[in-house]
Amino acid sequence: GKDLLTLIDFSSEEIHDVLALAAELKQKQRAGERYTPLAGKTLAMIFEKPSTRTRVSFEVGMTQLGGHSLYLNSNDLQIGRGETIADTARVLSQYVDAIMIRTFAHSKIEELAHYATIPVINGLTDDDHPCQALADLLTIYELKKKLKGIKLVYVGDGNNVAHSLMIAAAKVGMDCTIACPIGYEPKENYVKEAVKAAEQTGAAITVTHDPSEAVVGADVIYTDVWTSMGQEQESEERLSVFQPFQVNEQLVQKAKDDYIFLHCLPAHRGEEVTADVIDSAHSFVFQQAGNRLHVQKAILLSLLV
Ligand code: CP
Repeated sequence: GKDLLTLIDFSSEEIHDVLALAAELKQKQRAGERYTPLAGKTLAMIFEKPSTRTRVSFEVGMTQLGGHSLYLNSNDLQIGRGETIADTARVLSQYVDAIMIRTFAHSKIEELAHYATIPVINGLTDDDHPCQALADLLTIYELKKKLKGIKLVYVGDGNNVAHSLMIAAAKVGMDCTIACPIGYEPKENYVKEAVKAAEQTGAAITVTHDPSEAVVGADVIYTDVWTSMGQEQESEERLSVFQPFQVNEQLVQKAKDDYIFLHCLPAHRGEEVTADVIDSAHSFVFQQAGNRLHVQKAILLSLLV
């Protein structure tokens, strides 16, 4: 079966199909319509890191579609005591219909997907956060009524969220600029893949170190945390390196008048974004978080039915 490890593996058409399905599922849910095509199906969710949005949206999404989910903390699994990824994949394939995993090295999810005989979904690796990027696209589409030609500027760390956004944007023809400090650029293979995808759609993919110039004329300004799990020892250095990349009132003034602010959350007010920006009328971060649910349901249906 097909996996969702990275949007690099998905065509522009497949991405648009997931978004259209997510919009349809959102309508159904809003109308209070019961829709349970995943009755009898089980999703195993392995978490090696904490999560609020990914865990709850997958779990609730599975329930709403009539299925069941299992929350598996890696500390409580034999995987935390040395059982191999390959054996875990082969065993879970005997019991459940899909696996969602949040882990560290991207190679781990690739290994899991290689040995599993059921779909594997990436709930965040060090390199990629594809489910987040799909929810981001849905949110931008709802607010701007189009994706092609939109100017998205991501300000901050060229991390997993930046990687997925850049790929997603390139595939749907949205211009994407990553404004990051020197030494915190997105990985070269992601930039290469985004540029390759953009050649098909006409999108412009840019990496720069100047946030003020980057946000001029932006439709969407996006940021993410400066320090995530596993980077705590570098936290102090990061705070100073990223300071000029804070999304604040002064920076957003250069964007379009009707710009929207997005953040994958969790947010740290006063670090990557000031309260006056994230709590302003331009900010749609909770609509964005809400869309995680509808997108997860669309992903589950696309892979499981
Ligand atoms: N944005 C996101 O993935 O949130 P969680 O870490 O809470 O799942």
